[in-house]
Amino acid sequence: METEQRERSWAEPYKIKMVEPVRMISREERQKAIEEAGYNTFLLRSRDVYIDLLTDSGTSAMSDRQWAGMMMGDEAYAGSENFYHLEDAIHDYYGYEHVVPTHQGRGAEHIISQLMINEGDFIPGNMYFTTTKLHQELAGGTFVDVIIDEAHDPENEHPFKANVDLNKLEDLIKEKGADRIPYVSIATSVNMAGGQPISMANLKEVRALTNEYGIPIIHDMTRVAENAYFIKQREEEYADTSIRDIVYEICSLTDGATMSAKKDALVNVGGFLALNDEELFREAQNMVVVYEGLHTYGGMSGRDMEALAIGITESVDEDHIRARVGQVQYLGNKLIEMDVPVVRPIGSHGVFLNAKKILPQLTQDQLPAQSLAAALYVDSGVRSMERGVVSAGRNPETGEHNYPELELVRLTIPRRAYTQAHMDVVAESVEAVYQNRESVSGLAFDYEPEYLRFFQSQFKKV
Ligand code: F0G
Repeated sequence: METEQRERSWAEPYKIKMVEPVRMISREERQKAIEEAGYNTFLLRSRDVYIDLLTDSGTSAMSDRQWAGMMMGDEAYAGSENFYHLEDAIHDYYGYEHVVPTHQGRGAEHIISQLMINEGDFIPGNMYFTTTKLHQELAGGTFVDVIIDEAHDPENEHPFKANVDLNKLEDLIKEKGADRIPYVSIATSVNMAGGQPISMANLKEVRALTNEYGIPIIHDMTRVAENAYFIKQREEEYADTSIRDIVYEICSLTDGATMSAKKDALVNVGGFLALNDEELFREAQNMVVVYEGLHTYGGMSGRDMEALAIGITESVDEDHIRARVGQVQYLGNKLIEMDVPVVRPIGSHGVFLNAKKILPQLTQDQLPAQSLAAALYVDSGVRSMERGVVSAGRNPETGEHNYPELELVRLTIPRRAYTQAHMDVVAESVEAVYQNRESVSGLAFDYEPEYLRFFQSQFKKV
């Protein structure tokens, strides 16, 4: 049955019980809306968006079981029953010893960064993520990219573009000294590289190397099940291992984790910090009451924690993950057939358009990805997100823009929310914009906030 199904088309492993209408406003209205938003898709009102591919964060459709779980919320200030369900799910599925709940991923990043990083430290990682890196910097650290070079090349077909370059990592340890490296930051399914996986073989090597120097690994496990799916597909010895077991093994190779549960774990809000070290856990538990909430809710309500405990179990379901990543692959392959330049291989949570290649008439200072995202919205009301020079921010020392190799527009697919027909409409719109690419003009900053500027900056046409 399994093999028979594998050879045929996939279909969503659910049927729809409740619908939310979407609407498309006119082209003139979209033009006006994007101008008013300062050409930043984050500043659009959701009611003006037709298909929302801004992010896969907090945008999933919950299951009937999760909604049923919401009704079982124990809203006690302390010791909510739902917290213990969540703790059990994290033990059973991820294996970490201790859990500190947080309101979302960056809450956990804040705590771990403040606890482990000292002024002047270096934190190597397999590509930066915006909030993760900022919290490392705010704690006095400097992020150092140790991902393999292939990750910075959108067209390189390496099956595990999130792998760590062990030479880069060891050189850094030798240069700075192991005592200046509080931990190695390892993300599964690396967001900024295009949703690309790390292999189990590489993770084991990173573990062996860090063990030699006594350096812990902190895992950004936001999209760990999606990474596990690619390991199952691409690493032969895992072809017959369940997603659940692969996820568990990945976690077992690391010392702790930050989780934005708004992605893989299928909830609209929530997160946690998981740690094996008892002493560090005690400190984190103490800190969470200052910034997030009591150590048995950390910013989530009881019902949120229940939905999350159930979401964790659903996230490793074989049919779920196959359809989830399958839908992303479907859109990606359609765009490849249309000759639209995209990051290859297609990642796990979205399709990333190569804006540098699509808009060669623009310099990076003219913000090609920001401009392309705005043009796509005007074409069809599809909302996407810039992942290029705007997201990369400025160098805290020189104040200059960081110029990343990758200048991308992310079409991020929410989980269980849209159908294949929506993907067809998106592909048609991307193709239309691609065919008219010469008419897309650049943008310049009009307003720029200090932190995580991509969220709130406003732009003007150049
Ligand atoms: N780590 C990764 C890999 C993420 O993708 C995100 C969020 C976070 C940490 C932070 O978690 O949002 O719950 O505080 N990514 C969202 C996105 C915002 O659209 O990619 P958070």
